[in-house]
Amino acid sequence: MTSIAVSALPRAEELDLLIRAKYPLLYVIAWEERRVEQLLRQVAAQRRKVLYGWTITDGLHPLDGSLRPESDDLTRDPLHALEEIAASREAAIFVLKDFHPYLDAYHPHPQRAIIVRKLRDILNHLKESRKTLVMLSPLLHAPPELEKDITVLDYALPTAEELAASLERVVRSAQELGGIRLRLTPEEREKILNAARGLTCTEAENAFAKSLVLRRALDAEVIVAEKKQIIRRSQVLEYFDAQEDLSLVGGMALLKEWLAKRALAFSERARQFGLPEPKGLLLLGVQGAGKSLVAKAIARQWQLPLLRLDLGRVFSQMVGSSEQNIRNALRLAESVAPCILWLDELDKGLSGLASSHISDAGTSARVFGSFLTWMQEKTAPVFVVATANDIATLPPEALRKGRFDEIFFLDLPNRAERSEIFAIHLAKRGRPPRRFDVETLARRSEGYSGAEIEQAVISGLYDAFEAGHDLSTEDILHALGETVPLSQTMEAHITALRRWARTHARPAS
Ligand SMILES: Nc1ncnc2c1ncn2[C@@H]1O[C@H](COP(=O)(O)OP(=O)(O)OP(=O)(O)O)[C@@H](O)[C@H]1O
Ligand SMILES: [Mg+2]
Repeated sequence: MTSIAVSALPRAEELDLLIRAKYPLLYVIAWEERRVEQLLRQVAAQRRKVLYGWTITDGLHPLDGSLRPESDDLTRDPLHALEEIAASREAAIFVLKDFHPYLDAYHPHPQRAIIVRKLRDILNHLKESRKTLVMLSPLLHAPPELEKDITVLDYALPTAEELAASLERVVRSAQELGGIRLRLTPEEREKILNAARGLTCTEAENAFAKSLVLRRALDAEVIVAEKKQIIRRSQVLEYFDAQEDLSLVGGMALLKEWLAKRALAFSERARQFGLPEPKGLLLLGVQGAGKSLVAKAIARQWQLPLLRLDLGRVFSQMVGSSEQNIRNALRLAESVAPCILWLDELDKGLSGLASSHISDAGTSARVFGSFLTWMQEKTAPVFVVATANDIATLPPEALRKGRFDEIFFLDLPNRAERSEIFAIHLAKRGRPPRRFDVETLARRSEGYSGAEIEQAVISGLYDAFEAGHDLSTEDILHALGETVPLSQTMEAHITALRRWARTHARPAS
């Protein structure tokens, strides 16, 4: 996607500028056709151009409000339509709606080759004409053959003012139609509008209306719930309700200290003080060291929404093109910001690619590259937490300085940390730790990971339940004795990881 100019904030002025500058082929990604059409109508009027639309259902037709002439059925065929456009002598903007199916390189339409060729044929001619081609579609399928000639515009999500206007509309119609009088304090209003950030105007209006129906009031919770739905539908992001906070994480004193120092980093005060927003963390460590746990705990501790990015899905073409997927995900994350974007098991997500046939190495490298660039350049407060077990499969550029703020290595817990972890898991299951010989448990669990300690507690509980007595230190010791810890089965891997981490990462404790 690197060779395609992507603009973050296409507005009427920008469309106008590109059209005046004779950019021949614009690709506007947007769900809200009507809003873009309105903008184009404005631009066309200013520039004294005729505005035409094309859809597969109507063929080419004027879009400037003039009466539709007898529709020319032939132009429903995309190739015909392009020929018509090429032959036209008018100064005009042609809006091709939902043209993407003909451009898709992954699931090629039977006519794709000829249509892409036709586009290339007419491009040169367009550059010298007063005609502009605008593709308008919710999905991006920019043909690689045309990369150099297409300008992609991500239609920006509505601004705060536009959302406020949507809110106004809904409030007014609730009054007129439903007799509901809504008096919002400025604070309530702001809360509602913040909750709606990241929704399109239509989605926001639907969410407001839903809240009115459900609660007879505007409730930020209903709107947030609606946003979660939309995130879920994106298929590559998952909205996580994190339950555990840092008090449930044993050990890792240095990591906790680092996090505590940055807990307020997303506040307005920190901004004014001149603190940069933290970019993200890479948590590296053995299995069961608590990496995923920490990711969840950070979100809970900082009270930020946690979005998990499913790399497997990003690269699965069942869901769409990888470029499109990552782009959607990052945009959605930015619209929810401040938030935490969680890439769990980054190494597996990326190494799966190399060996799979779903995606070629070129695509995955490019898509991941664009992710790293985004990380480095992003301005929205999205804190990335990535976790990995293995550095060997991570692309070196992911580890380079400036990407993540810090790489933390989560080693197996030491004795004091094991005590803490035992205490946490006993307490979690309603057993006061002081009734157990936690010291002995910690001493006898050398080499066990946090996950294995938790398993020993659970396993002990089962034994005790079966034997008909309450959980005792002996039950847990017995369970410990029955498992071979990872530190033994994976010794070589752990040694290698430690060696690497000594020079490349900070210890978590
Ligand atoms: N330091 C810890 N303190 C408390 N509990 C822990 C700790 N480490 C691990 N656990 C327990 O083990 C469970 C599994 O850990 P987690 O899934 O976070 O490990 P991980 O590092 O992500 O492992 P993997 O590499 O297998 O994904 C946690 O949900 C938690 O209950
Ligand atoms: Mg994990």
